[in-house]
Amino acid sequence: MSLDPAALERLRLLPRVPLALPPTPIEEMARLRAALGARPALLVKRDDAIPFGFGGNKVRKLALVAADAQARGADTLITCGGVQSNHARATAAMAARLGMACVIVANGPPPARPTANALLDRLLGAEVRYVASRDERATGMTAAADELRRAARSPFIIPLGASTALGAAAYAQAVGEMLDQMPAPDVIVHASSSGGTQAGLVAGCRVHGLSTRVIGVSADDPASAIEKEVRRLLGDLESLTGSAPGSLSSGVLDVDDRFVGEGYGRPTPASDEALVLTARSEGFFLDPTYTAKAMAGLIARVRAGTLDGTVLFWHTGGQVALFA
Ligand SMILES: Cc1ncc(COP(=O)(O)O)c(C=O)c1O
Repeated sequence: MSLDPAALERLRLLPRVPLALPPTPIEEMARLRAALGARPALLVKRDDAIPFGFGGNKVRKLALVAADAQARGADTLITCGGVQSNHARATAAMAARLGMACVIVANGPPPARPTANALLDRLLGAEVRYVASRDERATGMTAAADELRRAARSPFIIPLGASTALGAAAYAQAVGEMLDQMPAPDVIVHASSSGGTQAGLVAGCRVHGLSTRVIGVSADDPASAIEKEVRRLLGDLESLTGSAPGSLSSGVLDVDDRFVGEGYGRPTPASDEALVLTARSEGFFLDPTYTAKAMAGLIARVRAGTLDGTVLFWHTGGQVALFA
C-alpha cells in the first residue's frame, strides 16, 4: 500500500488526553546483538519508559480511549483483566488523572497482600471486583455499569486491553513517531494479546506505505484467534481513518504462538533466558508475561537465521509484574 496522507491526517487529529507523552527512546541493542552473534541490527523502542503510570503500551491506547470517554461525559472507567493486569493499572492511573472513578473486574483470587499492579490499583483508588474466570469478565463489567447507571453515574466500559479502533489508532500514530526517529525497520517484533497493538502497528505501517513486517508474539491465545481479532480491528481502523475497505484488513498477518508455553503468565525456559540475557546485556527489564516471550521469539528467529536487515523490538512495558 502507498502513503495515505488523508488517513494520516485523520489519525493526527484524534483527540487525546493532554498527557506528557514524549517520543519514547529508540536504542541499539549492540551487546545483545553481540551475545547472540546476530546478523541483523537489533534496536528497541522503549514504550516501557513512557513516564505516566509506569508506562507501557496501554498508556498510549488509553490516551485516546479515555479522551473519548471524557467527551461522552463519563465519570467512571470500567475495565477488566487479570489480577496483575498492566492495562487495569494504566486505566486506574488514567481515571485518577482525569478525576474519574475506576472499577476493575479482575479474574482470579483476591490477593491476600496486593503486590505490583494489584498494589498500584489500590493506591490509585480503583475499586476491584473479583470474578472466578476470564469468561465472567464481560458480564462483570456490564453488571458494574448497570449498577452505576442506577446510581445516576455515567460509566464507560473500556474493553479488554483497550483494544478498540481508537486504542489501536494510538499504535498507528506511534509508527509516525518511530519514523521521525529512524528509517523504517525491516521487521518489528512485539508482544501481542488482545490485538490492538498489532492492529495499530500494521495499520501505521500500511498508511505510511512501509513494507515493514510486523511480527506479534502471542502471550496467550492461539495465532488464529489473535489474527482474527487484529483483522477485525483493522477493519474498524479503515472506518476510523477513512481508508478504502480492505486496504488495511486484507493481506498477511504475522502472529507467532510458539512461545506461549503452558499459558498466560507462565514463564518458559526461553522467556526466562530472554529476560535475563536482556537485563545483563542491555540493562533494561522485560516482563515475564508478555515482553520476555516476545523477546524469546525474536531470539529464536535470530538464532535460526531467519531475520535480516534492521529488527526493532517494540518494548510494550509490563515490568511492574516483576514485583508480583
Ligand atoms: C506489557 C504488555 N505487552 C503487550 C501486551 C499486548 O498488547 P495488546 O493487548 O494490544 O495485544 C499487553 C497487554 O496487556 C501488555 O500488558
